[in-house]
Amino acid sequence: MAEPSELPIHDLLGGETIARIVAGFYRRVPGDPILGPMYPAHDLAGAEARLRSFLIYRFGGPPDYLRDRGHPRLRQRHAPFALDQAARDRWMQLMLAAIDEQGVAPTYREYLERFLGDIATFLINRA
Ligand code: HEM
Repeated sequence: MAEPSELPIHDLLGGETIARIVAGFYRRVPGDPILGPMYPAHDLAGAEARLRSFLIYRFGGPPDYLRDRGHPRLRQRHAPFALDQAARDRWMQLMLAAIDEQGVAPTYREYLERFLGDIATFLINRA
């Protein structure tokens, strides 16, 4: 039988857990030598809110992100940042650490690693 291509992660984990994962990610960003300088130091809370809202929407929860930010246009919105393989791998490393901190079940963790990893690879814009 064919597997569903997308899991309803918002229903499975809950918005609270998604919010805690994103908070854990942003807690790690400022101290990171690659990612720290890329993010707006004066608006980390805003950046956290944007990613949280996007993931809740993308994982099947309320689409507040679309109302507030419009179409995601992620390639375009990441164009100002030098996103090479090392930045991509570090983003995934911090995100997976935040996911592991929440004790996400292995099946969902694996799914998230593939789902987020594919988007992260797609966002690479520098050799
Ligand atoms: C590959 C490594 C990545 C790097 C280095 C990176 C870096 C950044 C930076 C510096 C920002 C600006 C922060 C802000 O002010 O909002 C940003 C925004 C954002 N990123 Fe990433 N990002 C990466 C991957 C991803 C992935 C995989 C996703 C989605 C799963 C994602 C989703 C977003 C979203 C939704 C925003 C806010 C867009 C907006 O509404 O303005 N990013 N990212």
